[in-house]
Amino acid sequence: MPGSSGIHGVESMSDGPTADAASAAGADDFDLCSLEELKGKGALRFEFKDPTHGRHEIGVFWDGESAYAIENYCPHEFGLLSYGPVEPGVVACPLHAAVFDLKTGECLDKYTYDTVAYETEVREDRVWVKVPGEERFIRG
Ligand code: FES
Repeated sequence: MPGSSGIHGVESMSDGPTADAASAAGADDFDLCSLEELKGKGALRFEFKDPTHGRHEIGVFWDGESAYAIENYCPHEFGLLSYGPVEPGVVACPLHAAVFDLKTGECLDKYTYDTVAYETEVREDRVWVKVPGEERFIRG
């Protein structure tokens, strides 16, 4: 995928609604952004806090057909995947071009380790991501 053209990731964190919106769907479900915002920017990044491993980022992607969420730090040398080019079903790391399956997190070219994929769903034009046992980290 190096050299390909595609939707490029977005630079800024999006706060969207807070964790308060993790309503009837369950405490592990997070309403992260509007589908319209995601479609407009191509990718967004959100900070979470794991009780054991601490803070990390989840990248949320729009590939032209579906929304996906995977760990935003590339397992190779921590490139921010939300800055990488997106093509249908895949994103390439902006640093060394490892290619990840957006649905499964698998590193398709075996350049590095697989990453974590999160269950993602669009409900009434909002993008929800299931992140079991974690909480949103929003800078104060
Ligand atoms: S940091 Fe992602 S491929 Fe090297």
